[in-house]
Amino acid sequence: MRIPANEPKDRFIRACRRLPVDRVPVWMMRQAGRYQPSYRAVRQRVGFLELCRSPELIAQVTAAPIDEFGFDAAILFSDILIHLPAMGLDLSFEKGEKGKGDGGPKIANPVRNRADVDALRIPDPARDLPYVAEGIRAIQRALAGRVPLIGFVGGPFTVASYVVEGGSQGFTRLKTMLYADPASAHALFEKLTRAAIVQLQAQVAAGAQAVQVFESWLGELGREDLEAFAFPYLARIAEAVRPLGVPLIFFSTGTSSHIGPMSRLGYDVLSIDWRIPMGEARALAPEMAFQGNLDSTLLLGSKETLLARTRTLLEAGSRHPGYIFNLGHGLTPQTPPENVKAVVDAVHAFPVAGA
Ligand code: CP3
Repeated sequence: MRIPANEPKDRFIRACRRLPVDRVPVWMMRQAGRYQPSYRAVRQRVGFLELCRSPELIAQVTAAPIDEFGFDAAILFSDILIHLPAMGLDLSFEKGEKGKGDGGPKIANPVRNRADVDALRIPDPARDLPYVAEGIRAIQRALAGRVPLIGFVGGPFTVASYVVEGGSQGFTRLKTMLYADPASAHALFEKLTRAAIVQLQAQVAAGAQAVQVFESWLGELGREDLEAFAFPYLARIAEAVRPLGVPLIFFSTGTSSHIGPMSRLGYDVLSIDWRIPMGEARALAPEMAFQGNLDSTLLLGSKETLLARTRTLLEAGSRHPGYIFNLGHGLTPQTPPENVKAVVDAVHAFPVAGA
């Protein structure tokens, strides 16, 4: 395939821009994680937050899945909650420290009322999160131009769910705030939106070549609440980051019934889960690029079923330009690494029409 001089060369960036590709690009959410022996070895030595705050270790674990599996993009190793201490919240990862695994986030002083929201500070990435930008520069040295690097933040609703509940404890407190005290909820989303924007700006300035907003739990909201409490903030993030010139990916789960409205938020790529067939999703937003949407649980089953479903997805996805193979949500710790390798190889072996 001949690539004009004024076009991006990486197949991942090309697919984000809906340009023709030689092969379907593939990466997986949580591609750096506990399913890898190399990651578990690092976590034997350091806690999760300690890992997220070490530029050298960030570079090592971000680059490892590129070396091990040949993914077409790397994703910054960090967390959507990494900035919360700088906002004034006491964040820890329970049990997940020192290699014990299954550590969930915990916030000792969750946000419960207007005074708590008003006390939150907007982080200054250069001062509060210097290890993220240093980590990005170290990753770029480790990758040496092999594949592009994706930066990320959490979406305001998803981050708010941890901030208000104090951890992974559902959505009842946050949703109650929407209906009992909407002004405080808006003030919280406003601060989380500003925090997301400054982090994405810092990540792109340091060398991230695409960014993804993880709004994992958006499927908890119905349309009316999405329009009141989520879409305006997500559109603001897209509007603020668009001038930086990198592709913007929007990820959520449980939102198949909102593909049309989500396609109008100002992002380039929609990352969708397995609850809707890829072809059907694309028909609902023909102007978007799409990413997804293999069920992560398929990687725990038989290789025959895994590869058959991979092929069905490739056939639906690659029918139009603008498709990135990924999962519908993240890789789980139980995943056999050989199944990850089998999927990546199958995606790269799949012939793209016209390439
Ligand atoms: O490879 C990658 O995808 C990049 C790294 C990354 C992590 N977290 C590392 C991580 C990314 C992009 C995230 C995003 C993130 N963090 C999300 C959105 C994506 C999603 O999965 O829905 C959310 C909701 C979080 C918050 C979070 N971090 C939770 C709820 C947990 C505990 C649950 C779990 O999966 O363990 C984490 C911890 C975490 N973040 C781990 C990793 C690799 C596991 C920690 C460990 O090593 O013990």
